[in-house]
Amino acid sequence: MSKLNILEFPDPRLTTVARDVDTFDDSLKKLVQDMTETMYSANGIGLAATQVNVHKRLLVLDVSENQDQPRVYINPQILDSEGDQVHEEGCLSVPGIYASVSRAENITLRAQDLDGNSFEEKLTGLHSVCVQHEMDHLIGRLFVDYLSPLKRNMVRKKLEKQRKTAAKEAEEHLVI
Ligand code: NI
Repeated sequence: MSKLNILEFPDPRLTTVARDVDTFDDSLKKLVQDMTETMYSANGIGLAATQVNVHKRLLVLDVSENQDQPRVYINPQILDSEGDQVHEEGCLSVPGIYASVSRAENITLRAQDLDGNSFEEKLTGLHSVCVQHEMDHLIGRLFVDYLSPLKRNMVRKKLEKQRKTAAKEAEEHLVI
């Protein structure tokens, strides 16, 4: 397994619309393994292929308390949704930024597994939020897109500042 590089806002590649997965082979399994490892090592609970610059419709997540129940959803489709819930969301592609986003409470999801078998699940709570957040990535949308242009610009500036500070600190220290 290998760790993959995660694209960060405002990288334009994050706005790419992903295509359906049509080949269920070993390279897909390897991609899912690598994405899962990348998600865990970054302390995330979900990761969409778009974030690692692979523009295919798949996502991984693990919303379990002990982070020991990795899941994969390939070609996910929301068949039905109901209710509302508001969560404070963050994103591995927008590090250090959190904002409240309103999403459906319950969703009925159809997706495929690693062998191409189709399945349906009813999801609620955090699991439902996470799938909706990751599915947004697959159509090139980030949670900061739900903010006003003014707030989104503040996010952009804050990230720029964070990156500059990190680069300066790396210059001033011995990074081994
Ligand atoms: Ni995200």
